[in-house]
Amino acid sequence: MTVVDLAALGESFTRDPYPVYARLRAQGPVHRIRMPEGGAEAWLVVGYEAGRAALADPGLSKDWSKASPALPLGAVSAGPHMLRADPPEHARLRRLVAREFTARRVAELEPRVQRTTDELLDRMLSSDGGRADLVEALSFPLPISVICELLGVPDLDRDSFRNWSNEALGATDPELRRAAAVSMAKYIEELVEGKRLRPGDDLMSALIHGSDDSGDRLTREELVGMAWLLLVAGHETTVNLISNGVLALLTHPEQLAALRADLTLVDAAVEEMLRYEGPVETPTYRFTTEPLTIGDTVVPGGGELVLVAMADANRDPARFPSPDRFDISRDARGHVAFGHGIHYCLGAPLARLEARVAVRTLLERCPSLALDIHPAAITWRPGMMIRGPLSLPVRFA
Ligand code: HEM
Repeated sequence: MTVVDLAALGESFTRDPYPVYARLRAQGPVHRIRMPEGGAEAWLVVGYEAGRAALADPGLSKDWSKASPALPLGAVSAGPHMLRADPPEHARLRRLVAREFTARRVAELEPRVQRTTDELLDRMLSSDGGRADLVEALSFPLPISVICELLGVPDLDRDSFRNWSNEALGATDPELRRAAAVSMAKYIEELVEGKRLRPGDDLMSALIHGSDDSGDRLTREELVGMAWLLLVAGHETTVNLISNGVLALLTHPEQLAALRADLTLVDAAVEEMLRYEGPVETPTYRFTTEPLTIGDTVVPGGGELVLVAMADANRDPARFPSPDRFDISRDARGHVAFGHGIHYCLGAPLARLEARVAVRTLLERCPSLALDIHPAAITWRPGMMIRGPLSLPVRFA
C-alpha cells in the first residue's frame, strides 16, 4: 500500500487538514500515512462509521507495551493511566477515579468557573487599546485554574508545566517530547508527595486516601499517572474548545448574531463547536493485537499504530449533512469529539461547563468582539493530535 506522506504537506496540512482527510475518505476508510510527528508511519482511519468502530474495537490495544518495537514513539508518561490501559485494568482505574470525579463535584465547580471567567475578563477588558490574545487572556488560564482547583494544586508552576505539556504532546522531535515528559513526571511526583503530607478537600487527596468498597485504591505510580492525565487533559483540550469555538463564531457572523440574540442556544452551540472544530484531531495511540479488516484492507497485527481521524468522522457527510458548514442550529449530537467506547472522555461534563460559561460570558461582556487577525494568518498547534490556534488576537473596543 502506498504511504500518504502527511508530513510532507507541512504547514498547509496543519492549517486545514479537513480537505486532506476528505480526499482520503473518498478513496477508502483506512490509509497508510507518514505522520508529521517524528515521521512515524501509521494507519489512519477516516470517516464516521469506520472511525467509531475503531475507537471501540477491543482488538486495538491502548497498552504501549503492545506497540511494535520498530515504532519511533517518543512520549513517555509519568505513570500507568487509563489512556494506556486495556480491560480489566482500564475499568479498575476508571472506577477508582469516577467515584470521586462525580457530577456533584463538577456542578460544585460552576460558581468557581463563573468567578474565574469574570476575573479574567475584567483583566482583559481593562487592558489598554481594546485588544488581546484570547488564548492568553481566557482560553488557557480558565481550564488550568479549574483543574488545579479540582485537584487541589493552586500553586502549580504554570509556565513550566505549560511548556512541558505542549512539548510532550505536540513537539515534532521525539527527543524533545521525551525530555519534556520526564521533567513533567518528576514535578508531578513531588506534587503527589506534597498532597500525601498535606491532604485537603480535593480530588487528589480523595484519590490518595480513599478506597472503594472492596478496599482497592490507586498505587503510588497510578496516582502519579492519574494526576498526569488529568493535568494534561486540563491543559491541552478545553483551551482549544474555547479558542476554536470563538474563532468559529467570529468567522460566521450570522451564527454569532443568532447566538447573541438567544444565549439559551449556548449548549447547542458548544456541541456544534465540538463537532465542527473539536480540540482532538486524532486521539491517543492504539496498537493492533491481531490483523484487523477495515473496508477492503487488512491492517496487520503485531503492534501497528492506528490513528482515528476524529476530525474527519465529525465532518463525514454520511452522518452530518453539509458537514463543513458551522451551524449552531443543527443537531450535532453523535459527534465523537469526546471519543467513543470505554475510553469516552471522563472530563466531558467539566469541559462543556467551562465552554458554556466562557462563551456566554464573553459574548455578554464584549458586545463588539471581533477577530483582530486574518483567519488565514493564524498559526495552528503543530502535530496531528491537538487542534487549536497558538494565539487568537481579538478586539473588543
Ligand atoms: C473539550 C475538552 C476535551 C476534549 C475534546 C476531550 C477529549 C477526549 C477524548 C477524545 C478522549 C478519548 C481518547 C481516546 O480514546 O484515545 C478523552 C479521554 C479522557 N479525557 Fe478528555 N477531553 C476534554 C477535556 C477533558 C477534561 C477537562 C478532563 C479532566 C479534567 C478530561 C479527562 C479525560 C480522561 C481521564 C480520559 C480517559 C478516559 C478513559 O481512558 O477511560 N478530558 N478525552
